[in-house]
Amino acid sequence: MSKVARGWVQKCTGCGTVYPEDVRSYMCAKCSNLLELIKEDGVSRDALYGPNSQPGIWRFRKALPLPEDAKVVSLSEGMTPLVHVARIGAKLGLSRLHVKNEGQNPTSSFKDRGMTVAVTRAVGGGAKLLVCASTGNTAASMSAYAARAGVTAMVTVPAGKVAAGKMAQVSAYGGRIIRVSGDFDAALNMTLKVATEIRELSVMNSVNPYRIEGQKTNAYELFEQLGHKVPDYVVLPVGNAGNISAIWKGFKELEHWGISRSLPRMVGVQAAGASPIVDAFTKGRDSVNPVEPHTIASAINIGNPASWKKALAALKESNGIALSVTDEEIIAARMDLSASEGIFVEPASATPLAALKKLMGKIPSDATVVCICTGNGLKDQESVKVQLDATPVVAGPEQLVSLLAKTA
Ligand code: F0G
Repeated sequence: MSKVARGWVQKCTGCGTVYPEDVRSYMCAKCSNLLELIKEDGVSRDALYGPNSQPGIWRFRKALPLPEDAKVVSLSEGMTPLVHVARIGAKLGLSRLHVKNEGQNPTSSFKDRGMTVAVTRAVGGGAKLLVCASTGNTAASMSAYAARAGVTAMVTVPAGKVAAGKMAQVSAYGGRIIRVSGDFDAALNMTLKVATEIRELSVMNSVNPYRIEGQKTNAYELFEQLGHKVPDYVVLPVGNAGNISAIWKGFKELEHWGISRSLPRMVGVQAAGASPIVDAFTKGRDSVNPVEPHTIASAINIGNPASWKKALAALKESNGIALSVTDEEIIAARMDLSASEGIFVEPASATPLAALKKLMGKIPSDATVVCICTGNGLKDQESVKVQLDATPVVAGPEQLVSLLAKTA
């Protein structure tokens, strides 16, 4: 097992036990809580944001827990656009509404940020077989980085519950697909159980603390893109709850290191049919009751989120908000975003906008609000109705002119 990089400690988020080497199960042997990586010293603003020639998120290398000589497996992830969405903002009464378009990552979802770090670490430590359970995007991302590193990818997915576009990606990148009868939760359970059985196998789910380290860079980018200011609200979909934990960690680090002076309020959004974290938070409970999940937003069709404890902490610490949105609200928000702003996202990624509609009047109109739109719409086209048969067919230029003239 690889030793944790110099200047970093790996600690249990529950009992604080320190682990000097990577832990294959990613869990504390004493209390079964997840582990996290903590930098011992701070990072200065110049060190974090000063010019350097590293690709994508690797420009933040000083804040990533890898040795200097690590051989980076990268596809230039991160540095995604932050788009001011004025037309939708006007409808929602928010003058400073932005979309962080994570669909512009190499495999078209935010997963690439964490995958580049986790795969670099795993392959550097000798892993030859990368494995994950997935609702689709983690599988696509891991397969791409495995291909890039020249190792094998195997993914477990809930049978019949993943978008076809994501499976096409896995297959194109040479990943192997295993279908599990049951939900994502069953697939993750199984995958984590075998994690310690086979040497040279490494699990790439977001329980892997190196995934979290990569994903936290979203916070660093947002701070820079907003002119070295922290947004007032960060609104994002929550599934297995790795991303909300990661982005919150990034903002806390900026503040702790004296680079920023405030923290955002985190707004966690789940689909109504898969909302155990929203349920626990709104009822003031300290633990999550797993549910049998059911939503059209297959990416977040998760009933027993692995990082629920970290998500509840992020919501509490940030004085955050948690709410759920129905499948109808998700589809309407998705269409609204693509048709009014030209940004096509997958259903899960539309949940932040659906949530803001419900929060209308509750967030100050001049607040800086960022929606994390986690995945590209092309991955999941099943819920977009295109009735090609009902569109006109023309046979020559005259017909085309007359049709256009009627529309103009
Ligand atoms: N949005 C998209 C597009 C996702 O694919 C996921 C998670 C999330 C949001 C939620 O992120 O799990 O960190 O809370 N997808 C995982 C996967 C589960 O397997 O691709 P989270």
